[in-house]
Formats: sequence, structure tokens, C-alpha cells
Amino acid sequence: MRKIGVLTSGGDAPGMNAGVRAVVRAAIYRGLEVVGIRRGYAGLLDGDFKPMALESVGDIIQRGGTCLYTARCLEFLTEDGQRRGYQRLIDADVDGLVVFGGDGSFRGAQKLHNLGIKTIGVPSTIDNDIGACDANIGFDTAVQTAIEAIDKIRDTATSHERTYVIEVMGRSAGHIALSAGLAGGAESVLIPEVPYKLEDVVAKLQRGVARGKKHSIIIVAEGAGHGGEIGRYIEEHTGFDTRVTVLGHVQRGGAPSATDRVLASRLGAHSVELLVQGVSGHMAATQHGELTSVPFDEVFQSDRKPDKAVYELADILSI
Ligand code: F6P
Repeated sequence: MRKIGVLTSGGDAPGMNAGVRAVVRAAIYRGLEVVGIRRGYAGLLDGDFKPMALESVGDIIQRGGTCLYTARCLEFLTEDGQRRGYQRLIDADVDGLVVFGGDGSFRGAQKLHNLGIKTIGVPSTIDNDIGACDANIGFDTAVQTAIEAIDKIRDTATSHERTYVIEVMGRSAGHIALSAGLAGGAESVLIPEVPYKLEDVVAKLQRGVARGKKHSIIIVAEGAGHGGEIGRYIEEHTGFDTRVTVLGHVQRGGAPSATDRVLASRLGAHSVELLVQGVSGHMAATQHGELTSVPFDEVFQSDRKPDKAVYELADILSI
């Protein structure tokens, strides 16, 4: 291993910068050359490479977003695109690649591995849906961002004695909703992994009001329903003054938490070690806090599901 490339792909996640910094510095420490590939696989196809030095990654550990930019690249889903990407790496003498991203990004990384480029993935998505590891980079920060917003909404919900439906991100997973719902003291948490009936949500709200509750917060994962529709249903069936907030992309930005910076730093440096050892087609991971690596095939089969006991706890604590 002489020269490695690093790219960030798919939706950005707070902590990606800390991870890129770790890759660059750990590689240089090891005597390797590093190139940053801008705009994920799109930049790979365009040959948008820049040599990285120690100072290229100065002053970024605390920043959200990704200094390498990112993209969702449809062309790289095709065999022709993958072959052209492979050729770009060969032409630039890159013999190892670190890919920060989620499931789709790892599928691209696996194709490059199959074509002969040593490739390591680093789980980075606020959705936290990549399994076979303790956590994905960005999730901790996104939950913190969601909770800060929920706390603020609760202030005004209390003042106006209103019901709020707050829609959070997560694509088809309910991890953000569940953690933010439990930590934010929500009355109900709706996630795609657990079927629910809006009649039950309404009945619970009405029980709360009968007991003297002045306001209520319902958290809905984007994969479990539309905040707007749920808000309308609740208002029509209860008569309660109801408002809806869709948190949206605010959850993807902001300074990464200490937890995400530590995780990203460890996984970024570990991915360099793995490449040096000749490992390829794997995801760098922590399991029970220990650094390890998991073959992509296993990762693709280990969809992370929200903890049922935590879901039940959120329900019990919000009676
Ligand atoms: O995967 C991260 C994520 O933020 C999802 O939670 C969300 O569904 C999606 O990306 C939004 O993607 P885009 O930024 O392309 O609209």
C-alpha cells in the first residue's frame, strides 16, 4: 500500500470531517500518500482528486458537513460507471480507498473491491441503519439536534397548550425518532418498524388531557408517516389545537458531538490500518467498543432494528 484515496458519499453526516482528518493524518503518519476525492463517486468519475497534506485537514474536526463535498451518484450504479471509477483510481496510482457513507455507498465500495481496489467503508449516516456495529457516525449529533429542537417546541407548546407533531429524518428507519422521542419525553413515538393506529395515538392524547396534560408532543419518523397528515387527523379527531414541524435537514448539520468525533477519529484511523494489513471489502466498525472490521456481505444482511424494549419504555414513561 503506497497511496490511498478517501471520499464521502451519500447524505452528509456530522463527524465525516473528523473521519477524513483521521484517515489523512493516520496515513501520513504511516508514510502513505493520500488523495481526497471530491463529491463522492461523482468526483471519482470526473477525476476530481486533490492531494492531501497534514494541513489540508486542519481546523475541520469541529465542523459539520464534509470538506470533501458529497453526492448521490446514479452513474456509479451502472457497471460502466464502476469500471470507469476503477480506471480513474488505477490511473492515479491509488491502491486503497476509504469510503465514508451508508448502505448505497458501501455497495459502490464493494464493486470497486470486486474489481481489485482495496476498499474499506466507514459507517456514516444520521439514520443509524447500518448494522453490525455499535453506531454510525452522525447519529449521536443528529439526535442531539433533534432534542434541542423538541425542547424548544415544548416551551411554546406549553405556553399555548397545544399538541405538536414533529417529523424527524431517518429514511426507512426509526432510530432518530425513538432516541429523540425517549430523550425528549414525547407522548407518542411513531416508527416504521412498529405498526401503529392513529386511533390509539388519539386515545392516548385524550387520556392525557383528561388527566390534566396541557400539551403533547408526537414524534413521527419520516418513514412512518407524514407529519402534516398525522397532525390533520389528530386535530380533526380531538379538536385540539395542533401544529406540525418537520425538522428536515437541520438534523444533518451542525458541529459533531464529542461522541461522533471520537468514533470518526477511531474508525478513520482504523480504516488505514486495515488497508495496510491488506484487508478489503470490509466496513471498519466498533463492536462493544472494540475496533474490528466486518465484510460488506455481512453488513448488508444485518439491518439494525430499533430496540423493542426501548420502544416499550418510551411508551410506558409517557402514560
Ligand atoms: O440518509 C440520510 C438522510 O438525511 C435521510 O434521513 C433522508 O431521508 C435523506 O437523507 C434525505 O436525502 P436528501 O438530502 O438527498 O434530500
